[in-house]
Amino acid sequence: MDAASSDTSGIRIEPIAAVHIDSFHHALDVVAREKKYLSMLEATPLPQTREFVMGMIAKGNPQFVATAENQVLGWCDISRHFFPSHAHRGKLGMGILPAYRGKGLGRRLIETTLRAAQKSGFARVELDVYEDNARAIALYEKMGFAREGIVRRAARIDGQFIDAISMALLFDERGAA
Ligand SMILES: CC(C)(COP(=O)(O)OP(=O)(O)OC[C@H]1O[C@@H](n2cnc3c(N)ncnc32)[C@H](O)[C@@H]1OP(=O)(O)O)[C@@H](O)C(=O)NCCC(=O)NCCS
Repeated sequence: MDAASSDTSGIRIEPIAAVHIDSFHHALDVVAREKKYLSMLEATPLPQTREFVMGMIAKGNPQFVATAENQVLGWCDISRHFFPSHAHRGKLGMGILPAYRGKGLGRRLIETTLRAAQKSGFARVELDVYEDNARAIALYEKMGFAREGIVRRAARIDGQFIDAISMALLFDERGAA
């Protein structure tokens, strides 16, 4: 697909599968290396990324990708907390390749992933977002996420501290998706 194209009608949102792992790894690496949005500053090595994805599939954790011709353009995933007393909680992560941002793909991805999370019994989805990430914050607020606090100096990137906003969505406050 032409990176400059604004037509996203051919882009599918689908559950991640083994066939997507290489290009998911590439997309993760591109967004991480921007050093503006993610905790990772580069993708984990491919074998670890593969293990992560296969683990998400095996556990039934929601992970969806936006694809064109089987290439991953963006992702959204929700990892369930490990301890039984926290197993109603999931942590959301997402990203889209730069050329495909601002075209509604983020909204399609997060809506699909949240619907799957609600169906599989999550009660709470949470995330931390850097305070200067206006587009992501706007998207999360539109989805019903509320601000719960500030994580001061959450990250240090190239010597600069960045605060993050902790946000969470409680499905029973929001109603059925
Ligand atoms: C954050 C991200 C996933 C959002 O996805 P996207 O496809 O670019 O966003 P969308 O086009 O779906 O737009 C989401 C909403 O935010 C609004 N929006 C876009 N830019 C905005 C801005 N700068 N300020 C306020 N609102 C904005 C849009 O109007 C849209 O609302 P609408 O659906 O009512 O029109 C994407 O931009 C991205 O990958 N960013 C880099 C990685 C990242 O930040 N990941 C999240 C880390 S916590």
